[in-house]
Amino acid sequence: MPFHISLDGHTDLAARIYRQLRDGILDGRLRAGERLPPTRELARELDVSRNTVAVAYERLTAEGFLVSHVGRGTFVSADPVARSKRAAPAGSGVRPIARWRAVQAPPDDDRTSPAFDFRVGAPDPALFPLRTWRRLVSQALRPSLLPSSGYADPAGLEALRVAIARHIGAARSVRAGAEDVLVTQGAQQALDLIGRVLIEPGTRVAVEDPGYPPAERLFTAHGARVAKVPVDAEGLDVTALAKGTRLIYTTPSHQFPLGTPMSLARRTALLAWAERNDAVIIEDDYDSEYRFSDRPLEPLQSLDHDGRVLYVGSFSKTLLPLLRLGFLVAPTSLRPALRQAKQLMDWHGDLVTQSALASFIDEGLLARHVRKATREYSMRRDRISAFVRDELRDSLEIVPSSAGLHLCAPVSPHATVTVDSAIAEAARAGVAVESLSRYGGTRGGLVIGYGLVGSDRVGEGLARLGECVSAAGRS
Ligand SMILES: Cc1ncc(COP(=O)(O)O)c(C=O)c1O
Repeated sequence: MPFHISLDGHTDLAARIYRQLRDGILDGRLRAGERLPPTRELARELDVSRNTVAVAYERLTAEGFLVSHVGRGTFVSADPVARSKRAAPAGSGVRPIARWRAVQAPPDDDRTSPAFDFRVGAPDPALFPLRTWRRLVSQALRPSLLPSSGYADPAGLEALRVAIARHIGAARSVRAGAEDVLVTQGAQQALDLIGRVLIEPGTRVAVEDPGYPPAERLFTAHGARVAKVPVDAEGLDVTALAKGTRLIYTTPSHQFPLGTPMSLARRTALLAWAERNDAVIIEDDYDSEYRFSDRPLEPLQSLDHDGRVLYVGSFSKTLLPLLRLGFLVAPTSLRPALRQAKQLMDWHGDLVTQSALASFIDEGLLARHVRKATREYSMRRDRISAFVRDELRDSLEIVPSSAGLHLCAPVSPHATVTVDSAIAEAARAGVAVESLSRYGGTRGGLVIGYGLVGSDRVGEGLARLGECVSAAGRS
């Protein structure tokens, strides 16, 4: 690989060459075994005497950074003594600021593929319309469709904003025009943008308990004082909100992770609280497009007449999380700041993917895909609910919910299941499932995702899980 050496100035050229090569070896730009140009060649290239290069090479060789093989040339050494200098001494180095040091790392995600994966969060990649998507991406790459100037509107591709506004109006009763929509890289970027324009060190932010850890961690990283507010059968407990709370993050359509919708009375109370206390609500509607029964309640966004709700959506569940597609519908007063934050962060995201999604929605393919996937998920979900009710009723119960990609199964009030041993035993039996306590709250139990276990295999996975739960109840 060509390695650039700069010789501006005229003093001690050999030392300059030595230092630049050594730094290249230490930081990995020159890798072990890589061949260096012969001294004659490098000297010609740098317009210095061959002896100058030879002095630098000799010093690097003496220190163990290079090795010479007669007749073959000079190579970067694999010598462990020289390489070990690459590691910075323990305890040294630049450290992040205090609030970033305080941000907790997420639990290590186990990236193995269990035979039956009931973990939450992922839709089924097998249901993703890959061929259609490929066609739309290649269509989006046609020169006539690429924007003429280098960069585009930070709010995202106009065609996609129009499509999203229409889609959420029909599917979720969200009141929005294209000018209200800001396209983001997933819901997480929408939350980050909100944090950038509404959180300063010490700002009080309320999150649900149990709740979605990436949101809590993000707000903490922005310097917020985060308070966890309990959730009951009707949703976030508005009476538990502390005075001075500026921002309230909630998942009213399908509480994460419990799955319950927020009642209408609670929605109204929350909006009234926000108005009285000059607070702002973040409504995260991450997966409610998969709906299995009754009509959804109106989103907070459409009940809000005071410009206090920021509505966040994601295509991570309806399509795939790897596409990083989401959006934000914000009150007019916040829009300029949010657009600027977006531009300063990553300008406008990936317009090719955005264009593919715009066509996917416009051609009616998203609605069709969601209908088809809902039928499949509905079968899996019914099997899980029936299994827990029929086979595990002494150990677990199911929280009623009618949307999304997971079910929550807390331990029944009088049961004595040791959830952690059930999960460990299940892992040994090839079944991955999550503990409810991972998301906070006071009740133990399981959260059972059905994105990754097809309806043809869900029966066997449940049978194995059932044995482990029953065994953990006896032990
Ligand atoms: C509560 C909640 N919000 C948002 C998301 C989606 O985030 P993103 O769009 O960044 O992938 C998830 C995914 O699991 C979630 O559970």
